[in-house]
Amino acid sequence: MDYTELIRSALDARKRSYAPYSQYNVGAAILCADGDIITGSNIENASYSATVCAERSAIFTAVSAGKHDFTAIAIAGGRKEESDKMSDYAYPCGICRQVMREFVSPGTFKVIVARSPDDYREYYLSELLPDSFGPDNLS
Ligand code: THU
Repeated sequence: MDYTELIRSALDARKRSYAPYSQYNVGAAILCADGDIITGSNIENASYSATVCAERSAIFTAVSAGKHDFTAIAIAGGRKEESDKMSDYAYPCGICRQVMREFVSPGTFKVIVARSPDDYREYYLSELLPDSFGPDNLS
C-alpha cells in the first residue's frame, strides 16, 4: 500500500495545528473506505484538559461527515520548529487509540506514524492496543 498521499495530508494538517502551550504540532489524516481523506490537527486550550489531539480531531470530523468505515490513519508530529521532516515518530496516545477502536476493526486498520512521506512505520491497531475493549463487548 502506498501511503504517500495520506502522509502528505497529515503533514499538511500539522501546519494548521493550534498548540501555543506545548509547541508540539501534530497532524493526522484518516483514509476512509470510499477513498476520501479527512484531516485533523491538535487544538489546545488555555484550560489544558480541553485540548483535543490531532487523531481525534480527524476521526470526529470524519464521523461528523457521515463516514464510519476507515482503512488507515497517518500521524505526523513534532516540535514547532520542525518542518517537513520530523525528528521522531509521533505515536498516538492511549485515548486516541481507544477512539480509533470504536470505529475500526483492530486487526485490519493500519496506524502509520511518519517522519516524512518516505520514512514511516506501520502497525495494525491491534498491535498498539491489544486485547481491547470495544462495541462488541456491549452487544
Ligand atoms: N497530541 C496529539 O495531537 N496526539 C497524540 O496522540 C498525542 C498528543 C497533542 C496534544 C497536545 O496538543 C500536544 O500533542 C502535546 O501533548
